[in-house]
Amino acid sequence: MSKKILVLAGDGIGPEIVAEAVKVLDALQAEGAIDVTMEEALVGGAAYDDCGDPLPAATLEAAKAADAVLLGAVGGPKWEPLHFSKRPERGLLGLRSGLGLFANLRPAFLYPQLADASTLKPEIVSGLDIMIVRELTGGIYFGEPRGVETLESGERYGYNTLCYKESEVERICRVAYDIAMKRGKRVCSVDKANVLEVTEMWRDVAVKTAADYPEIELSHMYVDNASMQLVRAPKQFDVVVTTNMFGDILSDCAAMLTGSIGMLPSASLNAEGQGMYEPIHGSAPDIAGRGIANPLATILSVAMMLRYSLDAGEAADRIEAAVSKVLDDGLRTGDIMSEGMRQVGTAEMGDAVVAA
Ligand code: NAI
Ligand code: MG
Repeated sequence: MSKKILVLAGDGIGPEIVAEAVKVLDALQAEGAIDVTMEEALVGGAAYDDCGDPLPAATLEAAKAADAVLLGAVGGPKWEPLHFSKRPERGLLGLRSGLGLFANLRPAFLYPQLADASTLKPEIVSGLDIMIVRELTGGIYFGEPRGVETLESGERYGYNTLCYKESEVERICRVAYDIAMKRGKRVCSVDKANVLEVTEMWRDVAVKTAADYPEIELSHMYVDNASMQLVRAPKQFDVVVTTNMFGDILSDCAAMLTGSIGMLPSASLNAEGQGMYEPIHGSAPDIAGRGIANPLATILSVAMMLRYSLDAGEAADRIEAAVSKVLDDGLRTGDIMSEGMRQVGTAEMGDAVVAA
């Protein structure tokens, strides 16, 4: 049966990079390698401009009805003066909570062809391939109570609350263990169990859940040490599983080990395996409309979509191999350009992936 993809191009470079990812899907479809139908909708600043709401009800309904959502990026200086509730980024948060996307998969891998893009020494990062599994709908970003109050003394008192239910910890650990079973079978659970009771419980649940995965080698690390180890010896990690906030910070750090923001995809999944797929970068307003953005992170997000939500792992492998081939052939967008390579624009890069 045909799978439904909702395409949300968004703002800035979003429409340019998403167009290339759609080309790749179209090419696979034309060959009969996948069977999908695509529908488009508005989100972010584009939706605000259209109807005054960064996440129109029709868009959320279409997302719920789809098997997977492909998102470009949202936001830009044009919408910065708006109230927080109307900002494009609210559209993204609304999609995450509306779809219950509790598992955020953030791979950090280095294509050998781009080894010189990292700010770290090649021997530290060459062959790097980490998967960070971040809990996305709980923890301190969503905990109640929250707020800022003025005390009797006149001083302000601000608070957010870190909370997790055991079931929330268990389900994110299961996602991490299932992924690790298809990789190196090593999972490092990152917490702050020495200081935070919640994460002491996290560690306990991680251990208990691992009993169902006898082949998984589970280790634990405090978040401060993990951040240090990520830049000292990142290749020691295979899969990392952690809380919403720790994962937010560690995944950005891990991404930057590879040096190229235009290359990394991400997936956010719910309990039904439905997912939203997007590049990790933003809408890059500084280069929008010039046809020079790197579409590879978005194209690789399509590969993750095929693998995790559309049951088309073989097509996903082919996309990843095609990206590797165009890099082998020396094609580079500006963000990953280096000496002796051939600089191309967004569309030329997309066409090359399709051809490969
Ligand atoms: P950004 O990721 O958009 O850009 C950072 C730098 O990387 C810029 O110099 C940009 O030109 C470059 N860059 C990003 N993607 C690129 C690509 N595919 N090819 C070549 N170069 C690329 O982050 P920034 O500038 O902090 O944010 C810009 C806007 O994007 C803001 O409104 C922000 O809120 C929004 N944003 C949206 C996200 C999303 O939709 N998921 C995530 C991060 C930021
Ligand atoms: Mg972040």
